[in-house]
Amino acid sequence: MTTTMAAPPAVAGSGVDRVDGRLKVTGAARYPSDFSLPEMAHAALVRSTIAAGTIVRLDTDRAAASPGVLAVITHENAGRLRKARRNMVYPLPTPPLQNAKISYNGQYVAMVVAETRQQAAAAARLVEVTYDRDEPALHPRDSGAKPRSNPYFMDMKRGNVMAAMAAAEVTVEATFTTSAQTHNPLGPFTTMAHWAGDALTVYDSTQNPFLVRAMLAGSFGLADEKVRVLSPFVGGGFGAGLRSWPHSILAALAARTVNRPVQLSLTRPEMFTGIGRRPTTGQRLKIAAARDGTLVAIDHYGVSTASMSSDSLYPITIGTTAAYACPNVTARDKRVRLNIPPISHMRAPGIAEGNFALESLLDELSYELGMDPIELRLRNYAAVDPQTGLRWSSKALRECYEAGAERFGWAEREPAVGAMHDGRWLVGYGMAGVTFIQNHAKCRARATMRHDGTAHVCSGATDIGTGTYTVMTQLAAEVLGLAVDRVEFELGDTRLPRAPEAGGSGLTAALGSAVHNSCVALVQRFLGLVSNDQKSPLQGCAVGDVVASDGRLARADDESRGESYAEILQRHGLDELTADGDRAPPRAAKGVLVGALAVSWLGRFGRELVDASHATIPASAFGARFAEVRVDPELGILRISRIVSVTDGGRIVNEKLARSQLIGGTVGGIGMATLEETATDPGSGRVANATLSDYLVAVNADVPDIDVGFVGEPDPSNPIGAKGIGELGLVGVAAAIANGVYHATGRRIRSLPITIDQLL
Ligand code: MOS
Repeated sequence: MTTTMAAPPAVAGSGVDRVDGRLKVTGAARYPSDFSLPEMAHAALVRSTIAAGTIVRLDTDRAAASPGVLAVITHENAGRLRKARRNMVYPLPTPPLQNAKISYNGQYVAMVVAETRQQAAAAARLVEVTYDRDEPALHPRDSGAKPRSNPYFMDMKRGNVMAAMAAAEVTVEATFTTSAQTHNPLGPFTTMAHWAGDALTVYDSTQNPFLVRAMLAGSFGLADEKVRVLSPFVGGGFGAGLRSWPHSILAALAARTVNRPVQLSLTRPEMFTGIGRRPTTGQRLKIAAARDGTLVAIDHYGVSTASMSSDSLYPITIGTTAAYACPNVTARDKRVRLNIPPISHMRAPGIAEGNFALESLLDELSYELGMDPIELRLRNYAAVDPQTGLRWSSKALRECYEAGAERFGWAEREPAVGAMHDGRWLVGYGMAGVTFIQNHAKCRARATMRHDGTAHVCSGATDIGTGTYTVMTQLAAEVLGLAVDRVEFELGDTRLPRAPEAGGSGLTAALGSAVHNSCVALVQRFLGLVSNDQKSPLQGCAVGDVVASDGRLARADDESRGESYAEILQRHGLDELTADGDRAPPRAAKGVLVGALAVSWLGRFGRELVDASHATIPASAFGARFAEVRVDPELGILRISRIVSVTDGGRIVNEKLARSQLIGGTVGGIGMATLEETATDPGSGRVANATLSDYLVAVNADVPDIDVGFVGEPDPSNPIGAKGIGELGLVGVAAAIANGVYHATGRRIRSLPITIDQLL
C-alpha cells in the first residue's frame, strides 16, 4: 500500500516542454529505422496480387541472381514457424510464408534479403508468382463472406427495448456507414533483428513491446527472456502498433537465415496492408423518446468488417450503453470476415464510429422535437453509470457542454435549418457529446535515486509521440521533489519492468500511477534507511510526515529539519537506492461485475473492473465538440471554419501536451468526417489508394481554428488523478460536423466521409 504524499494540483506543469524535444529536432532521437549494426543486411517483401487463392508456382531464380542478394525466402524454404499463444484483444498474426494459401491482396508471399535496401527492393520485383485464383469475398454481401453475431460476447441489453419502442411518443431511425481508414503514422514501421546464438534482439515500431516479444518468442519457440524488444522512439501509432505483425517475424527469420542483422522497413504501400486498418462499418440505430425529450429506448446494431486471416476485438455499439440515462437499451455487434488485410484498432476504435451514429441521430431527434441539441443531451444526462447505477469516479460532461457552448458562442445559433449565411456560403452549427471508455491496465515502474541526487525512472512502455517521456518525468520529479532535469526517464525496452500497450488511452493513468507509486516507495525506502539513524532529522518519519523538494526530504511540521537524498546515501555507504511501484487496475465488486464489464472498454480489454471500495465505476474522459461549417450550395464544397473541443480528462498533467493530443485527435476527426477512405478495388481486392497522395488525410488547409479547453477535477480512481485523453479528441468531431452540415443545408449525411457528391 502506498500513500499519496500530497494532493497534486489539478493542472501541473502546463509549461513543461517535451523532455525529448531537443533529441527529436536535432535528429538524435533514434527511431527503429535509425538503428544499424555492422554487416546489417536489408529485406524487401513481395506481396500477393490476388485476394484469395493459392500460389501454384514461385520463380525466384532471377531474384536470387540479382546483385547483392543473400537469400530469397518463400513458403517453400522458410521452415516451419510456430503459432504463438492466443491473444484475445490483440490477435497474433498467422505466421507468414507457411503455405501457399492466399487470403488477402497484399499478403506476403516472398522476402528477399540483400546487401542494401535498394538491391533487395530491385530483386523483389523479379520474383514471379503464379496463382490459382479463387473468387474473393470483398463485400459483406459476397457469398464467401463469413458473418458472426456477437463476436466478442459483449452484446448488451438492459430493460425492454421492444415494449418501450412500441409505446413511445416519438421515434427516429436511420442507417449509418463509415469507411475503412488507414492509420498512416509518418514513421515507416520497421523491424531490425539480430541473433546472438538463440537470443534475439529486435528494434521495432510498436505500441506494445511485450506483445511483440510474446509473438517472436512463440514463433521461434523461445523463452520470453531470450527475446528483447526495443522501441525507444516510435514514429506514430494511432493503434497500428497495438497488434504485432508478420513483418516483424520475417525480419527475425531473415536475420536467422543469413546469420547477420537485418533491417526490414515497410514501404508506404505496405503500410496500407501490413499493419491493420479501421474496418468499414454499417449501423442501424433507432431511438425512442417522450415529447419532452426523455429517452425511453435505444436500439443500436452495428456490422463491421474483419480479415479472414484474423479478427480483433472491435465492438462499435458498446459506447451507446454508457452514454445516456436511458432505461431500455440494446447494443449488438456483428463481424463479417472478408478477403481483406487485417483490421486493427484505430484511434478510438468502435467508439468513434458508434458515436457518429448516436450523436447524429440524437441531432435528428432534436429537430423532430424542436429542442436545442444541448438541452436534449442534458435532459438525458447520465448522472450515474446507466448500466450499473454506480456513481462515476468523476464526470464533468455537463461542464464540457457549458464551457463549450460558451467558448463557441452557441447562443448565437439560429435554430432553423438554412437560416445562417456568410455571403454565398451556408453556415451551420453542430455539436456532439462524447462518453469515452478507456483501458485500465496493470503496470510496473522502477525508480532509482543515485548518489549525485539525480533519479532514474523506468518502465518498458512506449512513447508514440504523445509525450510519455515528459509526463512521466514530471510525475517522478513531483513526488521526489526534484527539478525535471534531474530525472531521467527510460522506456521502450522489454528488459525494463512490464508495462501495458500505449493504447486504449490507458497508458498515462497506468504508467503514471506506477511511476508515482514507485517514487513514493523509494521515499519510503529512504525513510526506512534512517528509521534508526540517530544522525537523521528524519528519524521515525513516515511518508505522510515528510515533504520532498530540491532533492531533499524534510519534516512537514518543520521544513528546516531534513536532509538530501545524496547525504543519506553517502552516510549509509550506498551508491543508489531503488524501489518498484505497481499499478493494479481497480478491483471488482461482486454482483456488479457483469454490468461493469458491459459498460466499459473493459469490454474491450476485459480488465477494467468496478472499484468496490468506493462503489464507483472508474470513469473515462468525457467531452463536447462544436463545429461551425460552411457549405457552398452550388459547388457542394464543405469547409470547416471552427471547432471547439472541451474535455474532462481528470487531472491534466501537462496542459501543453494534452492540448496537442486534443488538436491531433480533432484533425483525425476532420479526416474521418471529410477525407479519409481506404478504397478497395472491387475486382482484385487491392488497396487502390495506398499512397499519401491518393489517400487523403487532413492537411493544414483543411484544419481550421481549433479551440481546446479542459474542465473537471482529478479523478480519484488513480493516484495521479488522470483520465485517458489519447483518443477521445477524435470522437464526436464527425457527428458535430455532420450535424453542422444539416443545420446549414437541411441535408442529413449519414455516410462518412462527407463528399461533394453528397452535398450537390
Ligand atoms: Mo489506440 S487505437 O488504443 O492506439
